[in-house]
Amino acid sequence: MRTRIAAGNWKMNTTLQDGIELAKAIQQFINNFPLESHKRVVLGIPFTHIYPIVQEVDYKHISVAAQNCAKWEKGAYTGEVSAEMIRSVGAHYIIIGHSERRQYFHETNEDLKTKVELCLKQSLRPIFCVGEKLDEREQNKQFEVVEKQLQESLFHLDAEHFSHIVIAYEPVWAIGTGKNATPQQAQEMHMFIRQLIAKRYSPTLANNITILYGGSCNAQNAALLFSQPDIDGGLIGGASLKTNEFIEIIKLL
Ligand code: 13P
Repeated sequence: MRTRIAAGNWKMNTTLQDGIELAKAIQQFINNFPLESHKRVVLGIPFTHIYPIVQEVDYKHISVAAQNCAKWEKGAYTGEVSAEMIRSVGAHYIIIGHSERRQYFHETNEDLKTKVELCLKQSLRPIFCVGEKLDEREQNKQFEVVEKQLQESLFHLDAEHFSHIVIAYEPVWAIGTGKNATPQQAQEMHMFIRQLIAKRYSPTLANNITILYGGSCNAQNAALLFSQPDIDGGLIGGASLKTNEFIEIIKLL
């Protein structure tokens, strides 16, 4: 059975104190209502919060994720944080290729390919983000854009390495806009991604890969999105910062 994931992406929000409160509240909910074994919560949090929050959550149900890493292994790169450092403070997942990183930090598919390799070497599971911009959807180019992102950053991996990847489809026009993709639009893209994986690797591997939807996902629209056959959960921005709303989303997994 595929793993279903409710992943929060806190982005550059919360002080450490607020973050600990939020993580504790989610842990408390899960203590009362343990998740089935194929379901997992992942908290994508700022670097500064990783070590302390790892101490607060039970890895049985909740994993901690970083939101980025350096594209170099180590060395004279002032201000950068390596995959190895992230693994050493207890994170198990890492968001790679978020559209905000692509847009504001000019990360290319080639950069992301390198980052994915560095993460896998450290046994960090990439949550690899793909998705088209508004003008690309308006020109009906969403499938070619997403295919190129996968081809250039992931499809060089062998099947064993690829099996550790989680994919997040996040149409850029839906992020932080309150305008989510319809369940049909999201399902269509998730199915397309799964077919590409089946073609590149195998139908079995495609069937086992977790594909998350992200972009204005909230407690109101998650039920319909998560009920689509190829949607295995969500990568949640704004709504993951609101304790009760994120808990409602976890319940819908
Ligand atoms: P929002 O849920 O705030 O639209 O953000 C989505 C996102 O970017 C998750 O990575």
